Amino acid sequence: MEINDVDSRDLKKIVNLEQKIFKENAFSKNLMERLIEKNYFFLKLEIDRLKKHIIGFIIVIKDQKDVANIVNFLIDIKFQNRGYGSYLLQHTIEQIKNLKIIKKIILNVQLSNNIAITLYEKFNFKRNPLIVENYYQSGKNAYLMELDIDS
Ligand SMILES: CC(C)(COP(=O)(O)OP(=O)(O)OC[C@H]1O[C@@H](n2cnc3c(N)ncnc32)[C@H](O)[C@@H]1OP(=O)(O)O)[C@@H](O)C(=O)NCCC(=O)NCCS
Repeated sequence: MEINDVDSRDLKKIVNLEQKIFKENAFSKNLMERLIEKNYFFLKLEIDRLKKHIIGFIIVIKDQKDVANIVNFLIDIKFQNRGYGSYLLQHTIEQIKNLKIIKKIILNVQLSNNIAITLYEKFNFKRNPLIVENYYQSGKNAYLMELDIDS
């Protein structure tokens, strides 16, 4: 199992996985292309190095000057609930800390996504009580979750 940077050769696989998992809320191919060009981290989790099978990815972008935003994060269905999401998130938080300029990590999560919320809380993300309305293309609302980085 390896974590590597996503590059433009991964675009098709990334878009397919995104559509499979997020369906009507999936990021478009165009947006993914732009995110591959510009990000703090766009990381893929791969198993079997020879076949380079991507089982998940995470995208972190700059928000405000000292804030990083996790805008996309998934593990392929048949690999979920085996610790891979925790592994990728842990690695990503460490990478963000290593940038030394980030004071806070934020993300949005759908109100009903208890698995993801539990995972983020495990990593000490705190849920902001304000609900972000119409956050998703489907019109669904989101929570904002935040992790303060201690310097
Ligand atoms: C959220 C997601 C990335 C988690 O990845 P994962 O590899 O399944 O996560 P892990 O196996 O590391 O589990 C992490 C924690 O999530 C919770 N969890 C995972 N699967 C669960 C399940 N089926 N039921 C209840 N809790 C679950 C547990 O708290 C678990 O921690 P623990 O094993 O220490 O108790 C994955 O479920 C996913 O891709 N979901 C669809 C896309 C998504 O919702 N992305 C997040 C958008 S904000």
